[in-house]
Amino acid sequence: MAYLHLTPGVLYLLGAPLQLSYRFRSRHYTFHRRRGRVLVGAAMISGVFALIFGSLFSYGGLPEASAAVVFGLWFLTCLVLAVRAIRRDDIVHHRRWMIRAFAIGIGIGTTRIWLALFGMAGLDFASSFGPAFWISFSLHVVAAELWLRAFPNPPELANEPPDATSSPRPAAAAEAAG
Ligand code: HEM
Repeated sequence: MAYLHLTPGVLYLLGAPLQLSYRFRSRHYTFHRRRGRVLVGAAMISGVFALIFGSLFSYGGLPEASAAVVFGLWFLTCLVLAVRAIRRDDIVHHRRWMIRAFAIGIGIGTTRIWLALFGMAGLDFASSFGPAFWISFSLHVVAAELWLRAFPNPPELANEPPDATSSPRPAAAAEAAG
């Protein structure tokens, strides 16, 4: 079960930065879309198994399991809302939800830093997992919100007002422009 979480999770984490890169995305929107569907599928599988794995077999007991459920559900919600947004051509919210999802995905790296810090402070390994999960993922949720506050719009719509909600997809706009 761990591999059903880890393998698609690694695929998503390796693939997401290229999706988030404006330089790459703006030159290859069709590729972004196709690749994005694979990555969203991988992220969803990983997220569902994070929920099952994290809640049923958590090494750090209830504190870790509760964090796995809360942030696992948040991760899946962000992905679903990102896909729903782009389905209605809402690029602004597609980007916002994808950034929130990615922030959770990379949060697992920060848990390792906290585990090391708690270890140095003398806390036993298993008891460190719950606090490390809660602190790390919460910090990543906050960091994503601060990032989105600083950069509310994608470069595609940099000149739009901050509350712009929807805009023609680049492909559609290009077609319309001939
Ligand atoms: C990990 C990050 C991302 C993933 C996994 C992802 C995934 C996807 C997917 C699956 C679609 C196609 C939806 C469909 O047609 O069924 C899509 C389309 C699109 N995404 Fe993303 N996306 C990501 C980040 C971003 C970001 C940061 C932006 C910035 C604005 C963006 C802009 C777009 C645009 C403009 C389209 C429509 C492209 C077109 O018109 O052909 N995406 N993305």
